[in-house]
Amino acid sequence: MHPKPDEPQEVRVTARDTITVLNVVGARPNFMKIAPLARAFQRREGIRGLLVHTGQHYDERMSHLFFEQLGIPRPDVNLEVGSASHAVQTAEIMKRFEPVVLQQQPDVVLVVGDVNSTIACALVAAKLHVPVAHVEAGLRSFDRRMPEEINRVLTDAISDFLFVTEASGVANLRHEGVAEEKIHFVGNVMIDTLLSNLEKARASTVLDDLGLEPRGYAAMTLHRPSNVDDRETFDRVFGAIRTIADDLPVVFPAHPRTRKNMEAFGYFDRGGRLGGVRVTEPLGYLDFLRLMAEARLVLTDSGGIQEETTILKVPCLTLRASTERPVTVDVGCNQIVGTDPERILSAFRQVMQAETFECPAPEKWDGRAAERIADVLVAGLYVEP
Ligand code: UD1
Repeated sequence: MHPKPDEPQEVRVTARDTITVLNVVGARPNFMKIAPLARAFQRREGIRGLLVHTGQHYDERMSHLFFEQLGIPRPDVNLEVGSASHAVQTAEIMKRFEPVVLQQQPDVVLVVGDVNSTIACALVAAKLHVPVAHVEAGLRSFDRRMPEEINRVLTDAISDFLFVTEASGVANLRHEGVAEEKIHFVGNVMIDTLLSNLEKARASTVLDDLGLEPRGYAAMTLHRPSNVDDRETFDRVFGAIRTIADDLPVVFPAHPRTRKNMEAFGYFDRGGRLGGVRVTEPLGYLDFLRLMAEARLVLTDSGGIQEETTILKVPCLTLRASTERPVTVDVGCNQIVGTDPERILSAFRQVMQAETFECPAPEKWDGRAAERIADVLVAGLYVEP
């Protein structure tokens, strides 16, 4: 008889009074996910958390600011890999992470999200027979042209603890034959961070700084390679955004990748302006949270922003063909509008005309996901000395 496709492996445990969790961060969307976990591990007896920053993102506004604002402890190790092609960046992270794991001998390596740092560090740990915990497991866009989808599928395939944010993730993992014992539906750590920072974000002066009125503008982000590296697609999306900006100011904190392309494509006029679209530097966490919370609507191709707007109850138009976070659509907050200008504009008009907007919070997005993860790790790894 053939074995089941995914028999849970015996995870390596050593009898000791403290388990060591080696937490990994690399890119901007990782920071808000690790913050509540680092805190939960700090608070709990029996867990020692270490933090490795791969250095995938390194700019003040893409990295340091988030550590400061979210109270993330200083990384114990920074691998300082920086930017490169996918292959070079992934390989470089692996080369630099392996000696850290060998030296620290953690009981588990914890990775979050779907960036290159996630798969690179998971792969190193799995090959050294160190259990891997993946936070935000099971999400699938079913679009393998997205680098993140490859990272998600591969990381899940070699993880021992799969921490899932929404029911679709559980279904996807079951469908892929992942053993039931490995799957833990715990909620959403990014929402832990949002809920614990909402009050602080109200003190942000970003609206005054940009001369905006609450509900009197749209906030936008755009950085997917499929949208901003391809000139034809970027032109189409931007055509629609300029039309929207005729009706409603659009504020656009631009990712470095996007800004470079906008400059290369000659989008800015001589005064450095972009029609009615207000382009800013990337914002810190608290400013961006306030910008989203007070917006009339949000336009984005980000994954996490689809989730944050769902909790903030702000309509979100997702400028992509698919989402790996379908619960945000199911609860009525998010519309997947793609990159066709007509479709973007018709969704925009519909949002502007709607009188009511219902958007109940998804199950377990309640601010306690990190605590649940700590519980599972302690129960799964701790052995009485
Ligand atoms: C990465 C993630 C993506 C995530 C995004 C959030 C992968 C495959 N992609 O994409 O899932 O949504 O982060 O931002 O991991 N750059 C800077 N300063 C920085 C970092 C990057 O200027 O601090 C520039 C560099 O020119 C670099 C480019 O941005 O080449 C892209 O950075 P990279 O980390 O390769 O991918 P992102 O597009 O940021």
